[in-house]
Amino acid sequence: MSTPLFGAAALNQKLVGLPGSRARLETPAAVLDLDQFEHNIALMAESCRKAGLKLRPHAKSHKCAEITRRQMAAGALGNCCAKPGELLALFEGGVRDLLLSAPIASSMKIDALACAAAAGGRIGVVVDRADLVTAYAKAAQRRATTFDVLVDLDVGLKRSGVAKPAEAVELARLVSRLDGLRYRGVQAYQGRVQHIDDFAARRAANREMGRLLASMLDALREAGLAPEIVSGGGTGSHLLDGEDQLLTEIQAGSYVFMDEAYNSVDMHGRGGPEFAPALRIAVTVIGHSSLGFAITDGGSKSFALDGPPPRVFLGGELVGRIEWCGDEFGRILPLGGQSALPIGTVVECTVSHCDPTINLHDVLHVVREKELVALWTVEARGRAD
Ligand SMILES: Cc1ncc(COP(=O)(O)O)c(C=O)c1O
Repeated sequence: MSTPLFGAAALNQKLVGLPGSRARLETPAAVLDLDQFEHNIALMAESCRKAGLKLRPHAKSHKCAEITRRQMAAGALGNCCAKPGELLALFEGGVRDLLLSAPIASSMKIDALACAAAAGGRIGVVVDRADLVTAYAKAAQRRATTFDVLVDLDVGLKRSGVAKPAEAVELARLVSRLDGLRYRGVQAYQGRVQHIDDFAARRAANREMGRLLASMLDALREAGLAPEIVSGGGTGSHLLDGEDQLLTEIQAGSYVFMDEAYNSVDMHGRGGPEFAPALRIAVTVIGHSSLGFAITDGGSKSFALDGPPPRVFLGGELVGRIEWCGDEFGRILPLGGQSALPIGTVVECTVSHCDPTINLHDVLHVVREKELVALWTVEARGRAD
C-alpha cells in the first residue's frame, strides 16, 4: 500500500499480521475476506472457461488495481471502466488494458484517454455516434496513438448504443476508415437481464436480447465488418452468456464482492447465489438506543443503501440486520429473541450494493480467517468523473 493513510486505516495498519486482528479493527472499515474473494475469482474464471467466454471484468464494482491484477492472474483480459476518471485512476495504478464501456462527451477527457494510450495503455472505447468516432480519431492522431473501438449496441437497456442494424454498420464503417482507430467489434450490455431473480425468466430475457444482437451481428458480417469482439454480460447472466454463442467475452463486475442486491438472484437454477459475500463493512457498537437496540458507528457515509438491508455477522454468525441508517450511525435489529450486542463489539455487515459502497472507502482491509493480512488502496474511489 503506497498512498498515505488517514483515520481508521492508518490505525489499522499497525494491526496487520497480528493474530485476532480482524475482530479489533478500527471502524467503519471495508473488509475483504480473502478466502471468499479467491473463491469468487476462481469460480468466475472457471465458468468462463467452461462456456468458452473470455472475461473482461467491470472495475466499477471494485475500483482497485490490486484486484485487477488478481483477476488478470486468473485469466481476465483487463478491466472495463464506467468513467474516464475511473479508467485513468486504474491506469495510474499500473493497469494497462482498459475499456471505457460508456460513451462520453468531453474533448478534454478524450485527450486524457489518448495520453494514456500514448503512454503505453491498450485503451478501448465504445462509440454510439459519428461525432464521437471522429473526436476519438483526431485525439489519437494528435497523440500519435491508437484506440481500440467497439460500436455500442442497445439491446434493450435503452441507456446508450445504437438500436438499428443499419446504424451499427454505418458507425463500424466509419471507425474502420479512420486513422488512430482500430475497429475491434461491438459492445452489447444487457443490463436489464442481470437482476431477474428467477433463472428461467432470466434465461428467456437473455435469449430475447440475443435475438436482437444476432440481427445486428448478421448485418455487420454482411457488410464485411464482422466483429472480433462481442462484449457484454454480467454477474447475473454469466452462466447464460455462452448459450447462444454470440458474446466472445463478458463484463461481470459484482461477482468479486457480491451484495444483497444479487443475493436473491438464482444464479444456476438450483436456488440461491454461488458467489460469496466477500466484501463487508466492519462497524462498532457505540451505544444503545432508548428502545434497547445497538447503535453502530456506520451509516449512509459507509454503506450505499440502494438495495436490501445489510446482514450483520459476529465472528461468522448471523446476529441481525441493519434496520436503519442515518448519515454516520446505524441501528441493528437483532435476530428474534437476542439481546442487543455490548458496546465496543465489532461486527461485519454485508453490503446492499457493492459498487456505490466501495466508492465510499479509500482502503480495503484484507483478512484471512481471523487476521488482517494487508491493506489495498481503492485507487478509483470517488472517481465518478
Ligand atoms: C456496461 C456494463 N458492463 C458490465 C456491468 C457489470 O455488471 P454486474 O456488476 O452486474 O456484473 C455493468 C454494471 O452496471 C455495466 O454497466
